[in-house]
Amino acid sequence: MSTIIADFTAIFFPKLVALNKILLYTNYMSEKRGLLLEHYFTNNENLKSNIREIFYQLNNIKFTFLSDNGVFSKNNIDYASKLLVETFIQEHHKLNNEFILDVGGGYGFIGITICKLTEANVDIVDINKRAIHLCERNIKLNEIPNCRVFASNIYENVKNKYKYIITNPPIRAGKKTVLKILMEAKNHLDENGELWFVINKDQGAKSTKKALEACYNIEIIEKSKGFFVFRAKIS
Ligand SMILES: C[S@@+](CC[C@H](N)C(=O)[O-])C[C@H]1O[C@@H](n2cnc3c(N)ncnc32)[C@H](O)[C@@H]1O
Repeated sequence: MSTIIADFTAIFFPKLVALNKILLYTNYMSEKRGLLLEHYFTNNENLKSNIREIFYQLNNIKFTFLSDNGVFSKNNIDYASKLLVETFIQEHHKLNNEFILDVGGGYGFIGITICKLTEANVDIVDINKRAIHLCERNIKLNEIPNCRVFASNIYENVKNKYKYIITNPPIRAGKKTVLKILMEAKNHLDENGELWFVINKDQGAKSTKKALEACYNIEIIEKSKGFFVFRAKIS
């Protein structure tokens, strides 16, 4: 019956059918645009939750991370983040009395592993509410007493100074945000503090290094699969 009605409409009201097709296409495009605009750093409370567990081990210590839709690297630990943590840990074993800040911490991989392995005091900040909530759960799950997480747009809510600031910066948030995270780190570092970060050569590692040379002594500490781990000290 519905086929007969559709055929009848198509024959006698072709303009109506064409209009319907335009409306369907417009809906499809706006949904598609919505999905494309949905980045890992936006807060979308309507995004369906699908919690999963990710496992990681370093120096015989096992970690479990809860992850979810709408956060960065939701299905596995990001290669660049792993490289950053493992490079940092090779140089720093115990940092008991030191304070570290992880900027754009996501569900907490960098901050939590470094906190557990070095026993430093770690603060983690992020702009994404779902990531912050997961990070709170991951701190408890991995039993890390000296680690806390709070919401902050870059350094907006950061009041303390740190010996180390560490970040896998949000490239998809744009160069302006990335440079702000890296450049303004110096305002939150101790006098002899260090900024550690990772960036891919195709995401502007070299130009970022050049821009930072104005206020930091910057060295490449590790290179792997196109990713560079940098250490920057205030000059
Ligand atoms: C490349 S991800 C790294 C996440 C996590 N550190 C990891 O290694 O899995 C960058 C993170 O920065 C966060 N972010 C984006 N813009 C931000 C901003 N303006 N202030 C703070 N965090 C931001 C994102 O929500 C995301 O969690």
